[in-house]
Amino acid sequence: MRLSDKEGEEANMSDIKLQVTRGEAGAEPAVVSYDVPYREGMSLLDAIFWIREHRDPSLTVRYSCRSANACKECTALVDGKAGFLCSIRAKAGSEVRVEPLKGRPWIRDLATELD
Ligand code: FES
Repeated sequence: MRLSDKEGEEANMSDIKLQVTRGEAGAEPAVVSYDVPYREGMSLLDAIFWIREHRDPSLTVRYSCRSANACKECTALVDGKAGFLCSIRAKAGSEVRVEPLKGRPWIRDLATELD
């Protein structure tokens, strides 16, 4: 094994695994798992953007301000607790469950109707 191969394996150990609820209103939701390369300081919304760019551009998430906690549009359930995807920092090597908010009409993937 070349040194560079070994370094690549070590880098993968810091990947984060996102378990994301997928589907749309009127259909049965499914949980899809994605491995996302970890970057220092990345938010869960950044991880979702990585999935959209590199794995599936159809993954739907609502957002606007992207980091100011001003719009609250990126609210989702993270490991069962409501939070803003743009302000929750990813942890290297972690596994995170991300779901749409409960109690609001579901549109698609992580997007629900706003109040
Ligand atoms: S995108 Fe505005 S609060 Fe997260």
